[in-house]
Amino acid sequence: MDMALFTIDQKKCKRDGLCQAACPAQIIIRADKKSFPALLENGEEFCINCGHCVAVCPHGAFLLSTMPLSTCPPMDRRLLPDAPALKHLLLARRSIRRYKKTPVSRKLLTELVDVARYAPTGSNKQQVWWTVISKPEEVRRMGAMVIDFIKIMLPLTPDEAQVRRFQRLVLAWENGRDRIMRGAPHLIVAHSPAEVAFPAADCAIALTYLELYAFARGLGTCWAGYFTGAANVHEPLVRALDLPPGHQCQGAVMLGYPQYRYSRIPMRNQAQVTWR
Ligand SMILES: Cc1cc2nc3c(=O)[nH]c(=O)nc-3n(C[C@H](O)[C@H](O)[C@H](O)COP(=O)(O)O)c2cc1C
Repeated sequence: MDMALFTIDQKKCKRDGLCQAACPAQIIIRADKKSFPALLENGEEFCINCGHCVAVCPHGAFLLSTMPLSTCPPMDRRLLPDAPALKHLLLARRSIRRYKKTPVSRKLLTELVDVARYAPTGSNKQQVWWTVISKPEEVRRMGAMVIDFIKIMLPLTPDEAQVRRFQRLVLAWENGRDRIMRGAPHLIVAHSPAEVAFPAADCAIALTYLELYAFARGLGTCWAGYFTGAANVHEPLVRALDLPPGHQCQGAVMLGYPQYRYSRIPMRNQAQVTWR
């Protein structure tokens, strides 16, 4: 026998209709305002397991079979940053391109990917996977493969300006300056199975959560765009990355302790908005 998708603790339920209002799939119904919530017939198949029903209930009355209350800690509003603090964090994050050799502990790396689990994903699919590389020589070896890829692409690229940029990257590499991985001790790669609806958005948002939290924890990150451009197409790199079958690399960040800190927030372009 299947377990019911949810049960209502009728001693606690105040019949306020919040769970019904919060359900994105609209599978929680009530006969009238005095009734307890119930599941729409065959509603299970439309549940995206987002837990909004559990999260919105102030009384702890909504018991979702897939999400025990013990896995859903109470909100602590006192812990929320106020708007100026959050805004300053968002404006103050920088791409870090000089790293200390000090490795980031497995515990802290785990904390980073654990926070990123709470990033939104299309239909709450949560199909963001991580490959965390913590061997500096492996990060560097992959950087070398990106350089090999750029060398292959160079003669095939008609755009003059692009060619010059690529040539500078290769020249820097040959002079011992790593502009691909920036000497980072870690590389965090986000990947998804191809059949997910919004793999690029899911992974980019998760990486963004990760990088903002990393900054708050005193770490530095930088998106690894050259790496990402080669990661699914340059065979030696595809083999070295060794993602699960059917997975595509959707993005990556270098990570480590920054060698220096920034003292100002650089200017950015005005927002380009069409107001209607
Ligand atoms: C998708 C993406 C790819 C990027 N790839 C690289 C890269 O390969 N190497 C690098 O040094 N910076 C890379 N960056 C960092 C940008 O250059 C950086 O975000 C931009 O210059 C603004 O600086 P800030 O992040 O400090 O505000 C990338 C950024 C994004 C969003």
